[in-house]
Amino acid sequence: MTESLTVTEISIPKAPTLPDAQTVTAVTHWTDRLFSFRVTRPQSLRFRSGEFVMIGLMGENGKPLLRAYSIASPSWDEELEFYSIKVPDGPLTSKLQHIRAGDQIILRPKPVGTLVLDALLPGKRLWFFATGTGIAPFASLMRDPDTYERYDEVIMMHTCRDVAELEYGRQLVESLKDDPLIGELVGDKLRYYPTTTREQSARMGRITDNLTSGKVFTDLGIPPISPEHDRGMVCGSLDFNTDMKTVLEGFGLREGANSDPAEYVVEKAFVG
Ligand code: A2P
Repeated sequence: MTESLTVTEISIPKAPTLPDAQTVTAVTHWTDRLFSFRVTRPQSLRFRSGEFVMIGLMGENGKPLLRAYSIASPSWDEELEFYSIKVPDGPLTSKLQHIRAGDQIILRPKPVGTLVLDALLPGKRLWFFATGTGIAPFASLMRDPDTYERYDEVIMMHTCRDVAELEYGRQLVESLKDDPLIGELVGDKLRYYPTTTREQSARMGRITDNLTSGKVFTDLGIPPISPEHDRGMVCGSLDFNTDMKTVLEGFGLREGANSDPAEYVVEKAFVG
């Protein structure tokens, strides 16, 4: 008895372990400003496509440095994927951009967010509007069978400064038709409308301008957005989100939420 008490009183030094640690399995650098990475998925983690979690690294002060990141992988994937900007002096991304396979990151397994199908009323056509890394939640939603079961047509509008920044989204969209799991469901339902604003490419212009001028409707051969048929999800910078709200409300759409579904929802893409 005495002996065992003595043993418990001796503190056995343990190797420091991170709380909620997950292991990086792959990293892809798309441009000098953009990278994506995959990590192990906590067994208990369930999420709805479009939601985000807090992820990060241990700071030098011993406190976790966490930011909100949309999960870019579909809910059926056994790993988790994230898509991130690299900000040279960003507190987290200046360090996170150097992670390699085998490293650990912190992931709080509490998914939340408004970019979920349940926050929208049923409709005919679902629009995804993204700038930059704002495509991340749609990378998940574009791979969710529910998206295609609920809507006849899905339109992915993505705008970046230059062509190289569109590449992550382009490769993803192109892979979907041949995807063994959801390729058949996607079929011809998914339409992709990428544009650049600072480099010459096949299609140019800001999403807001291409909507208000009607160019995107002409190009796709569809009627303008209406509250009766169209639903929208917006993810980009603060300015983009604010301008998109004005554009969508101009078409008569109302903002929805989990508790009060309507015609469109908005979320800020992570920056910093
Ligand atoms: P632009 O080049 O005309 O600023 P960033 O890389 O700065 O996050 O921007 C990503 C893309 O989002 C760019 O193509 C940029 O166009 C576009 N963008 C930025 N702000 C807005 C906005 N308020 N409305 C529409 N598009 C925007």
